[in-house]
Amino acid sequence: MAVQTIVAENADIASRHASDIVCRQLGKKRHSVLLLPTGSTPLKLYGILAEMVRAGKLSFSDAVTFNLDEYLGISEKHPESYHSFMWKNFFGKIDINKRNVSIPETSPKDAKRFCREYEQKISRKGLDLAILGIGVNGHIGFNEPGTKFSSRTHVAELTKSTIKANSRFFRSRKQVPKKAITCGLKTIMQANKVVLLAFGKNKAKAVRDAMEGNISEKVPASILQKHGNVVFVLDREAASLLKKTRMKAPAIEGIRLYSKFNLPKKKRIIFFSPHPDDTPVSAGGIVSALSKNNEIIEVVMTTGHHAINQGKNLKQRIKAREHETRLAAKELGTKPLFLKCRFYDNGKEILEKDMRTIRKLLRNAKPDIVFVPHARDGHPTHALSRKTALASMPGHVELWAYESPWSLFGHGRFNAVFEFGEKTMKRKIRAIRKHKSQVERTRFDTAAKNIAEFRRITIAEQFFSQLGKKPLATEPYLELFNISKW
Ligand code: F6R
Repeated sequence: MAVQTIVAENADIASRHASDIVCRQLGKKRHSVLLLPTGSTPLKLYGILAEMVRAGKLSFSDAVTFNLDEYLGISEKHPESYHSFMWKNFFGKIDINKRNVSIPETSPKDAKRFCREYEQKISRKGLDLAILGIGVNGHIGFNEPGTKFSSRTHVAELTKSTIKANSRFFRSRKQVPKKAITCGLKTIMQANKVVLLAFGKNKAKAVRDAMEGNISEKVPASILQKHGNVVFVLDREAASLLKKTRMKAPAIEGIRLYSKFNLPKKKRIIFFSPHPDDTPVSAGGIVSALSKNNEIIEVVMTTGHHAINQGKNLKQRIKAREHETRLAAKELGTKPLFLKCRFYDNGKEILEKDMRTIRKLLRNAKPDIVFVPHARDGHPTHALSRKTALASMPGHVELWAYESPWSLFGHGRFNAVFEFGEKTMKRKIRAIRKHKSQVERTRFDTAAKNIAEFRRITIAEQFFSQLGKKPLATEPYLELFNISKW
């Protein structure tokens, strides 16, 4: 498994994703062995986990923990010692057994010997999960730039930049200890799984160097590129300098959560729209967001002339709907293509002639992603559109099934959500209203907005609030999808 990346809108949400990983680990193995950091980064995670323990949803009673590091030369009772930090912010709030907690001593008699024994204890127990923060210079633990990749638990000298960064916790820079005991890079690499958390703009460079730079002792965290099972959990700012990394949509309870930050990029996308207005009504949010970094062909399957009263004859009615579609497509950033499928007028079956046209289109367009109405969409034109499109489809595409106001997904029938805000909703509404002939008939703009809001409220309640009080989706609107391989 390569490096996985979760990018969340902010540190709160990112910390919830991290808590999800910890919960899964403890769910799998109650007596898991964890390697834990201090610092400002894990504070939210510790808060969420403590809250879950308080609510009876999680227990650390059998868990074993090691701390990554501790200052040397101050008292363990010093308010800024990592002993104090851990008991104040985490251990004191959870049901951990004190005997299962190990933190390096602040004043061991023989520091070298202590390090050796700490390392041996970790090796004996084996680490299931290491949680890490990262320093602005790319350090993990107190493994400063230049530390050997082969290092085990050792005494480390703090660099100037770390002393400066940590001075915010002390009265003055002078009071920051100059030495520490830290697990080594090799110690960390032993963990079966590593989760590195990084939040804020000041971590963006370190994150980029660690994830996308050369693997070098100059950037200690870059060694993680060699670890087979590592997840970087970032907020948007910490991820802002990443170029090559493919962001993974975080999954909660099997549901992939997409936002404008982790949508697919540089893909060829085909959106099969049964009627001319189905694209904005059903998926105007995601389509307008996707069109920024992808090429989207909006394939309008039918002329939609049954649902328009304007115009004297058939030709004029079709023309009017095509005109509205072009205006809406401009708003969404798609390229419309009008198929005029025969099944629209010819009854209940898919027709070879329609399929031939679509096969040719797909051969030329070679899409990576294809949107279709979902499998249980009960509207006859939608069902025939889906059938015709799928019967003509080659393999190797990612299929995104969407819902529409006429046929919402039933429980458990979707596996991905796209969350979006007011600006995107406004664009969606503007696109829907370009289909003037339809909105005058039925308020699809209102329906689409209400469904997106309804989905946000109910989905958040069903799936996302389990990890705490705040739901994970933060934006006010959701569109739902079922993604599968075709
Ligand atoms: C602390 C530790 C350090 C911090 C790093 C980031 O136990 O191992 O490597 O993770 O210095 O610190 P914050 O989170 O305060 O930015």
